[in-house]
Amino acid sequence: MDIESIRHQFPILAEGGIIYFDNAATSLMPRQVAEAMMESDLYYRANVGRGLSRHTKRTTGVFEEGREKVADFLGAEPREIVFVRNTTEAINIIACGLPWKKGDRVVTTLAEHHSNLLPWQVTAKRNGLKLEYVIPDLNDLGDLEPYNKALESKPRLVSMVYVSNVLGVRLPVAEVVRMAKERGTLTMVDAAQAAPHFPINVKELGVDYLAISAHKMYGPTGIGALYISKDAPQPQPLLVGGGMVTDVMLDGFRVAETPTGFEAGTQPIAAVAGFARAVDFIGEVGFDNIEKRCKHLTGEFDHKIRSYDRLRVFGAEGTDKRLGIFAFHIADLGVHRVASLYDQFGNIVLRSGHHCAIPLHQEVLGVERGTVRASMAFYNTVEEIDKFMEVTERILELVGDA
Ligand SMILES: Cc1ncc(COP(=O)(O)O)c(C=O)c1O
Repeated sequence: MDIESIRHQFPILAEGGIIYFDNAATSLMPRQVAEAMMESDLYYRANVGRGLSRHTKRTTGVFEEGREKVADFLGAEPREIVFVRNTTEAINIIACGLPWKKGDRVVTTLAEHHSNLLPWQVTAKRNGLKLEYVIPDLNDLGDLEPYNKALESKPRLVSMVYVSNVLGVRLPVAEVVRMAKERGTLTMVDAAQAAPHFPINVKELGVDYLAISAHKMYGPTGIGALYISKDAPQPQPLLVGGGMVTDVMLDGFRVAETPTGFEAGTQPIAAVAGFARAVDFIGEVGFDNIEKRCKHLTGEFDHKIRSYDRLRVFGAEGTDKRLGIFAFHIADLGVHRVASLYDQFGNIVLRSGHHCAIPLHQEVLGVERGTVRASMAFYNTVEEIDKFMEVTERILELVGDA
């Protein structure tokens, strides 16, 4: 893989100047994705699914091809793919839309992004559900016992993250989904951080619901996908209005089948074109290459960052457990100060704070002040890592022995 020519496709990388290590927040976008969106707006502008002209039908066809591409990316059928704004919206649809019974139990983990916590808290309050948290063992991610225990009493649903946005660790989703299925428990997976890193096949996983966001996989913001298995209970739609019904009476309406029933209102047509192009882009680069490069970069970063005594890295050591995401502290420095020093000294883009995972920081990592996070994508380089380490040394010099 010629990384330089790939970097050239990303104007922010090609023009140089910054080191972008904030890929877990949002990835960069290659030129062809932006061009696909522009082409959609300039040449295929019509409202999809509304109108019988050849032009409108052509646009609708392009939109549905986008759905086919995303379905293919996840190993799903197109009718199981709902376009949503993002992972957050997808999880809200499932949490708000399933027919809950008072006393139902929902299980999630303490490794979650707030997107996979708050919707369940709200739903639990509204419907009288019991919400339980599994505390994953970060030193032994393969330990299934905490999940086994939580699943013993056959909860209604378990919803968990595939890859932690703070620690970059991969949770044992396939095993938990299998265990849940054996007990008749529904499963939802937050795959926001997994989708850019390795192939996902929803049928092999056997999951009922799964969510991804295009902006974390080189695509546009404002678009994502919710997989709803055709064999799983279909939730009630979160939004109602135009384009999602088969009939409307004065006292009610009939919701169209999935996915149409979940896509009320005019869709983000150009964003879907960009999403489809981002999926093509990943296919062109190839997950084999992405995984190989990410492993290499993770190994380099892991090895180098652990050589500093006054720098504390959270989570498991070793490249096989991590996907390019590192949360850390430097001595007693405040996390926002550290991130701004990296910015000031090296034009390095990091994130500082709780990364929308306050319970993970407080209950699992035991830190109040959050962490600084460096997150890489396959297009980052060892030279960028070396520059990061140079800046780290500068910051450590500044801290001195204090
Ligand atoms: C693991 C995880 N889940 C969910 C989300 C929410 O994604 P979005 O903001 O696209 O809804 C994020 C975003 O950082 C994430 O990292």
